Amino acid sequence: MAPAAGSSRARCLLSLQGMLVLLLGSVAGRDPSWTHESPCHRAEHPVISHSEIEPWIHRFRAEGTVDYSQLTFDPGQNELIVGARNHLFRLHLEDLSLIQGAEWQCDEFTKGACFSRGKSEEECQNYIRVLLVNGDRLFTCGTNAFTPICTNRTLTNLTEIHDQISGMARCPYNPLHNSTALITSNGELYAATAMDFSGRDPAIYRSLGGLPPLRTAQYNSKWLNEPNFVSSYDIGNFTYFFFRENAVEHDCGKTIFSRAARVCKNDIGGRFLLEDTWTTFMKARLNCSRPGEIPFDYNELQDTFFLPELELLYGIFTTNMNSIAASAVCAFNLSAITQVFGGPFKYQENSRSAWLPYPNPSPDFQCGTIDYGSYVNLTERNLQDAQKFILMHEVVQPVVPVPYFMEDNVRFSHVAVDVVQGKDTLFHIIYLATDYGTIRKVLSPLNQSAGSCLLDEIELFPPRKRQPIRSLLIQHSRSVLFVGVRDQVIKIPLMRCNFHKTREACVGARDPYCGWDLVLKKCTTLEESLSMSQWEQSITECPMRNVTVNGRYGPWSGWKTCGHSDGGSAGSCLCRTRACDSPSPQCGGQQCQGPSVEVTNCSRNGAWTPWTPWAPCSTSCGIGFQVRQRSCSNPTPRHGGRVCVGQNREERYCNEHLPCPPHVYWSSWSPWERCTVPCGGGLQTRRRTCENGNECPGCSLEYQSCNSLSCPDLKKTTPWTPWTPVNISDKRRPL
Ligand SMILES: *[C@@H]1O[C@H](CO)[C@@H](O)[C@H](O)[C@H]1NC(C)=O
Ligand SMILES: *[C@@H]1O[C@H](CO)[C@@H](O)[C@H](O)[C@H]1NC(C)=O
Ligand SMILES: *[C@@H]1O[C@H](CO)[C@@H](O)[C@H](O)[C@H]1NC(C)=O
Ligand SMILES: *[C@@H]1O[C@H](CO)[C@@H](O)[C@H](O)[C@H]1NC(C)=O
Ligand SMILES: *[C@@H]1O[C@H](CO)[C@@H](O)[C@H](O)[C@H]1NC(C)=O
Ligand SMILES: *[C@@H]1O[C@H](CO)[C@@H](O)[C@H](O)[C@H]1NC(C)=O
Ligand SMILES: *[C@@H]1O[C@H](CO)[C@@H](O)[C@H](O)[C@H]1NC(C)=O
Ligand SMILES: *[C@@H]1O[C@H](CO)[C@@H](O)[C@H](O)[C@H]1NC(C)=O
Ligand SMILES: *[C@@H]1O[C@H](CO)[C@@H](O)[C@H](O)[C@H]1NC(C)=O
Ligand SMILES: *[C@@H]1O[C@H](CO)[C@@H](O)[C@H](O)[C@H]1NC(C)=O
Ligand SMILES: *[C@@H]1O[C@H](CO)[C@@H](O)[C@H](O)[C@H]1NC(C)=O
Repeated sequence: MAPAAGSSRARCLLSLQGMLVLLLGSVAGRDPSWTHESPCHRAEHPVISHSEIEPWIHRFRAEGTVDYSQLTFDPGQNELIVGARNHLFRLHLEDLSLIQGAEWQCDEFTKGACFSRGKSEEECQNYIRVLLVNGDRLFTCGTNAFTPICTNRTLTNLTEIHDQISGMARCPYNPLHNSTALITSNGELYAATAMDFSGRDPAIYRSLGGLPPLRTAQYNSKWLNEPNFVSSYDIGNFTYFFFRENAVEHDCGKTIFSRAARVCKNDIGGRFLLEDTWTTFMKARLNCSRPGEIPFDYNELQDTFFLPELELLYGIFTTNMNSIAASAVCAFNLSAITQVFGGPFKYQENSRSAWLPYPNPSPDFQCGTIDYGSYVNLTERNLQDAQKFILMHEVVQPVVPVPYFMEDNVRFSHVAVDVVQGKDTLFHIIYLATDYGTIRKVLSPLNQSAGSCLLDEIELFPPRKRQPIRSLLIQHSRSVLFVGVRDQVIKIPLMRCNFHKTREACVGARDPYCGWDLVLKKCTTLEESLSMSQWEQSITECPMRNVTVNGRYGPWSGWKTCGHSDGGSAGSCLCRTRACDSPSPQCGGQQCQGPSVEVTNCSRNGAWTPWTPWAPCSTSCGIGFQVRQRSCSNPTPRHGGRVCVGQNREERYCNEHLPCPPHVYWSSWSPWERCTVPCGGGLQTRRRTCENGNECPGCSLEYQSCNSLSCPDLKKTTPWTPWTPVNISDKRRPL
């Protein structure tokens, strides 16, 4: 006994030293002077910024609804079923559009009772904590203001409630308590949760279905000691539970260990002994440690992901909340867990004695067959043993001694694993949710000797709007990740090959989902590629963040006046500048492209255009005048520049020495002359004369007919009239 106690004390010391080593190590890692000296040579993982991922993702938000902590699929995987505070939703998987929302509030009476027990408005709500699909039904439980209830609803119509039963032992009272539940194909509900208001009575409890309800022994710290339940799985003849709890076997100070526990699904409890209690409950410690002279333990299980085909359980483990943050991923083979359950027990005779190994009375323990005829030995386990032997002596070791992945200064909260067919092999990709709202994508080691790779980190939120992730659900068939946070659900496609535009970027991303199709000259998934032999993928080393940063200009400054000289005289302009600082080029990146200064609206003094040629003289002979012009448009004055001085028009006389030649012209016509005949049609003439010369165009004579009336017939001539004096000057009369 003494050596046992001594060695465990030594272990305490060792783990304390391990803590110190880690502390010093991480302080050195964070030293700013060291990191700032050589940022171009620091190896960092690629980061997919919020703005880069935003075009790929879909989000669902409902006004006033928070705590999107429960996610599951319908059996056909066409819908996402979401449990949030006071609400249930059905969403289309494609774009997270709402199919149906169902409100599930606590009633006023329940709320009032909750307030009267000293709980806050925030706590006295209905937080969904169980969301299980059972055939065409949705079994869901909520904290209901510290009065948990469960309902049985139609999966295709969430407002249609069939049953409402108490949520006691099925759902925690307190929304902060961690719990897990599953429903078997026979309809039995296995729940691991606190069973009371105060949370002091934790249990793994079976109810509903055809078998009798059973629980873990009450107020027995050897069974469960302040557990935080993490997950549960229905595997073969057993139901497995994963949790962390205060280590009862650890006798130096309070330490938390991670556990795997299991019960037989056909357990029906004991008689007289262990009545209504599991007779097959066993638990074992899970070890996830950084090996070394002093192993460093990641003791606290936070989440698990089970790959049923491989019977492989991925677990994420962290250090204690009160110590420096560090996380690790360990993978456990189910056969290793089974093996430990077949090994010796750890047994303590009484509370003052040491824990000692005790050989397993039934190393080949099977769940046995149910014989309803006799309730004895149903699970082939002796009831005294069942009461005595709870904890296994051996510790379940991970598949490889070194954790698959480790990181300091961060706490992982959720894990999901995808198995991806690459060019040469199957890859396991581990998605890790951090406590500040990013998702890390880690490539699991390919073999014992290879290490893991941090492929990239997706930032789901802009830098100052980060929030922890509350749930993670992966859909393998479509390679999609669903993420629940406080105020929304986010859908992230995991295959984003066409993001990489060049062969170098595609292959360099070392993304198992993607390869460069040499024929299509595109980054594609394996399914999209034309032929596997023409599909290039190289997952040989971890990708590096491209720390080369090409410079990009920041925004322009406002316009300001600035001086310039305009042909010797000072003027002013509007200028604006921008700096090459968003980001500034780093590590050999290119300088910013384009000008950093822009000048506009400069003042400009006006200047004359040359004179136009003189315009034609206003006269062709004799004195006249002519003009010439110029304008103040060479250039025109602008933006406050001076106008031109002087005239824009000049005049001068012309043809001063060119007297006009005499004017040759027709005189006006004379009157028509006497007609050639008094009657019977004659001609008469008029004339004009060409003045100052004889070159007038046209004729100087013009004729017209006259006296066209016919002459009267002269039949008889009367005798002559007597002579009468005639005025000979009268020319108007014919002679
Ligand atoms: C869903 O169930 C509710 C309550 O039973 C009922 O009133 C409603 O008509 C149902 N809706 C559909 C689409 O069936
Ligand atoms: C839920 O509904 C199914 C089918 O109606 C029923 O068999 C089952 O007992 C119900 N479960 C509960 C917990 O009410
Ligand atoms: C439940 O688990 C979370 C995550 O590990 C932890 O922060 C929280 O304190 C736990 N709740 C309780 C009541 O211990
Ligand atoms: C799990 O253990 C079984 C049996 O030892 C072995 O066949 C299998 O390869 C192991 N699986 C992994 C992933 O190590
Ligand atoms: C379940 O138990 C039965 C009876 O002991 C056994 O025959 C069967 O192989 C077990 N199944 C598994 C998956 O272990
Ligand atoms: C049933 O249990 C008794 C004592 O508890 C034991 O002697 C007997 O061998 C058990 N039977 C079987 C089939 O394991
Ligand atoms: C846990 O694993 C580490 C690393 O493999 C090992 O050094 C250590 O001894 C293990 N601890 C226990 C308790 O098995
Ligand atoms: C492990 O994987 C690495 C990288 O793929 C490979 O170089 C190495 O040969 C492998 N080792 C063994 C033992 O298979
Ligand atoms: C690294 O980033 C710079 C700037 O964005 C880019 O010009 C360069 O092509 C990148 N290099 C690789 C290998 O992707
Ligand atoms: C420059 O002048 C033009 C015309 O006056 C005006 O429309 C423009 O807004 C000015 N530019 C700036 C930057 O003020
Ligand atoms: C004849 O003509 C003259 C001059 O034209 C005139 O003065 C005179 O009266 C005329 N005599 C008669 C008889 O008409």
